[in-house]
Amino acid sequence: MADHPTAFVTGFPIRHSRSPLIHGHWLKKYGLDGSYQAIEVAPEGFADFVHNLQNNGFVGGNVTIPHKESAFALCSRHDTAAMEIGAVNTLWFEDGVLWGGNTDAYGFVANLDAMSPRWDERKSALVLGAGGASRAVVYALKQRGFTDIRIVNRTVERAKELADRLGCGISAHEWRMVPELLGDSALIVNTTSLGMEGKADESIDLTAAAPDALVTDIVYVPLETPLLKTARARGLKTVDGLGMLLHQAVPGFERWFGTRPDVTPELRKVILADM
Ligand code: ATR
Repeated sequence: MADHPTAFVTGFPIRHSRSPLIHGHWLKKYGLDGSYQAIEVAPEGFADFVHNLQNNGFVGGNVTIPHKESAFALCSRHDTAAMEIGAVNTLWFEDGVLWGGNTDAYGFVANLDAMSPRWDERKSALVLGAGGASRAVVYALKQRGFTDIRIVNRTVERAKELADRLGCGISAHEWRMVPELLGDSALIVNTTSLGMEGKADESIDLTAAAPDALVTDIVYVPLETPLLKTARARGLKTVDGLGMLLHQAVPGFERWFGTRPDVTPELRKVILADM
């Protein structure tokens, strides 16, 4: 057992995770005595892994695909974001019990705050996709006071479920409605796997987007997704998804290691060098 605080990231598979690089960079930068490791755990072993965290000397860790919903079910307490989103990406111990939090929504807004001040002045957004990532984004936008959030999804029923779950000010639409919805959306967010490396590299037609719209993608491999390329070609403002990954790591690091870390251009370079 390590004699210093040890945290982990677990998923299945886990080899592509950038979290060890992020936390390793901060541990070194702040001269902290701690460690952070990637541990691959198959779904059938996940509950055992979680039950044995303290026996194995862990102070907490990150959880990624496909364990975020299972992690939610295994925690004794949850922060508000995890309760609203129904998924957990950060685990820690407090008052002797296992807590689960969700920092994806925090990461999403912190990235936009850092990269595009005043991004939230107009409270209307078009969100592409209705999966787990979309839940975090829609929750984040609601928290920021967005009053008109339109979700479009290939499978419209999923968009409807999400709209119903997260309440007023949110509407669900079919994918074909995108051109009509673009015009008065101040923020356009892709949360689907479209554009992700190895997946369909389609973009969407942004011809009808408002000239002052901000376009952001939560996909960060590749960094310049087809959607962001299309947006730039039209002269629209864009923010890529890498910053969300970096910012979502901040609250966990602070809980486990006691120092609130900064997201810096230097950290971004470290991750980009590994891509
Ligand atoms: P995550 O947790 O990363 O959000 P997910 O829950 O599997 O992953 O959701 C993936 C999202 O990408 C969904 O909105 C999905 O649309 P469906 O609900 O219709 O499946 C969307 N998606 C995936 N491939 C797509 C494609 N080729 N065209 C449009 N949307 C796609």
